[in-house]
Amino acid sequence: MCGIVGAVARRNVVPILVNGLLRLEYRGYDSAGLVVVHDAQLDRVRSTGRVAELALKSSGLYGELGIAHTRWATHGIPSERNAHPHVSRNLISVVHNGIIENYEVLRAELTEQGYEFTSDTDTEVIAHLIHSHYAQGNLRVATQMALAQLVGAYAIAVVAADNPHQFIAARKGSPLLLGVGESEHYVASDMSALLQVTKNVVYLEEGDVVEVNLANYRIFDAKGNAVQRPLHVSELDNDSVELGEYQHYMQKEIHEQPQALANTLEAVCNSQSLVPGIFGAEAAGIFPQVESILILACGTSNHAGQVARYWLEEIAGIPCGVEVASEYRYRTSVPNPKTLVVTISQSGETADTLAALNHAKATGHSFTLAICNVPESAIVRQSKLRFLTRAGPEIGVASTKAFTTQLVVLFLLTLVLAKLRGRLDENREQQFLQELRHLPAAVQKVLALEPQIAELAKHFADKHHALFLGRGMHFPIAAEGALKLKEISYIHAEAYPAGELKHGPLALVDRDMPVVSVAPNDALLEKLKSNLQEVKARGGELYVFADANTHIKEADGIHILQMPEHAGFLSPILHTVPLQLLAYYVALQKGTDVDKPRNLAKSVTVE
Ligand code: F6R
Repeated sequence: MCGIVGAVARRNVVPILVNGLLRLEYRGYDSAGLVVVHDAQLDRVRSTGRVAELALKSSGLYGELGIAHTRWATHGIPSERNAHPHVSRNLISVVHNGIIENYEVLRAELTEQGYEFTSDTDTEVIAHLIHSHYAQGNLRVATQMALAQLVGAYAIAVVAADNPHQFIAARKGSPLLLGVGESEHYVASDMSALLQVTKNVVYLEEGDVVEVNLANYRIFDAKGNAVQRPLHVSELDNDSVELGEYQHYMQKEIHEQPQALANTLEAVCNSQSLVPGIFGAEAAGIFPQVESILILACGTSNHAGQVARYWLEEIAGIPCGVEVASEYRYRTSVPNPKTLVVTISQSGETADTLAALNHAKATGHSFTLAICNVPESAIVRQSKLRFLTRAGPEIGVASTKAFTTQLVVLFLLTLVLAKLRGRLDENREQQFLQELRHLPAAVQKVLALEPQIAELAKHFADKHHALFLGRGMHFPIAAEGALKLKEISYIHAEAYPAGELKHGPLALVDRDMPVVSVAPNDALLEKLKSNLQEVKARGGELYVFADANTHIKEADGIHILQMPEHAGFLSPILHTVPLQLLAYYVALQKGTDVDKPRNLAKSVTVE
């Protein structure tokens, strides 16, 4: 949440800042702003519109040092006065991602000292605090002194009007990386913002403060000691963050799923058998001791965990619980040190999931596994074991390819544990591996149904509510379909296990309530068909996403989307794709901002 870019160079950095912000807009888009240092002055431009508007407003600006920000509001409404950068007495300027929990106390103290506040944000206290220590003239030391007074999470970048070739950056609890160029340096919340200028990156660690100059940089750890951090060359390329032939990132990312799945499965599918080592060097020692699984995640990633529960219990015979991370961290639970705690996160920086992981560790869990799309993210670094999904950057706020790649990793986990527990013989293992190898092609075939789904979507454009039904391991897929629809089309959508219908929600069914049903050809198909009859008998309009040989017929009030194959245990992955496309095309019908739905942001780094 919130995107930060900073740069120091011997050329105008305004285009670098603006292009960087365009890449980071998915992190928050309530407002945007930038400051450049020029002629010992801070030139600031802010806008409540999108970054494109800021680009126009800042087109005449020049500065060889600057910081910029795109905001997802926490403290104070989205408005120009609350937009970053914040400035203290025309001397110090700060951009910030995170939340300062003790800002009210600090604000009162600073007001006493005569500082005037011009925004409702928590960030402004950082600017004034640094100013109050800057009397000594050392921006890094002043920043370190200010940070010592903060409680909360931050990634910040700081400039001073009288210091034209240097900025300071720091992180604790929010991501920030340093880009290293040829006699110029940058910081950003993620690498996508910097690919325009460099691939050389240093991942800052918790508590790091970095003093960034034209020709060099110096990193200090949380204790203030000068430290060296390794320089990496990013594997991302600029194309992976370009829209290309697609209208929206969400559409692009839905279509990237066959490749994302193939990439994620690459190492495994080329091998002849599954080994614990794919989850990290220590997995071979840990997995045989594991008695149960606890999955912690939020939103879409939580839905992936819910599907995995069916796999883990049925195939591996291992008890599995799945919890919403924000709830788990605040409840008293009974830890079993032999439980493997699995966190699932696209971004690896979701505050609730990270806090849940730390809570689990604090209660005595030491077996931790992160399934994540972002290498070096906080959740990955703080877990003992890891499997990186190789979905590539996911920019659309609605998660798509991250979800399906999480599912294949969870399926691999199931198979590895099943094998260790003597529940997967060689034949079955080979059969599952073959099914995994076929998966990208199977998803490709489902994508070919896009025109039919676009037609179906027209029926939803004037609806205000929708019900999604599924049974067994497809119930979480129905929930995922409902989440996608509500977040990007703003249609109220709810998911129910189909058997629950008659226990309440059936009262809602009428001609205006479309009922979407996930109907795979599995053991629960006949039961599901009965549930669908219950809907039809009440005049409900049914949209059935069926697969091979379900023999559900198109009729008055029943619309069928016929998927070509049934994928057995992997069927939830195939059934996800048409629901993503349905949400996408309904949103297009409604004219909403598909990639940046209102009130949301991609990486939820606040509680
Ligand atoms: C929905 C969506 C969110 C995220 C959730 C967790 O489309 O994207 O529900 O899944 O905020 O995010 P990560 O996976 O980054 O931890």
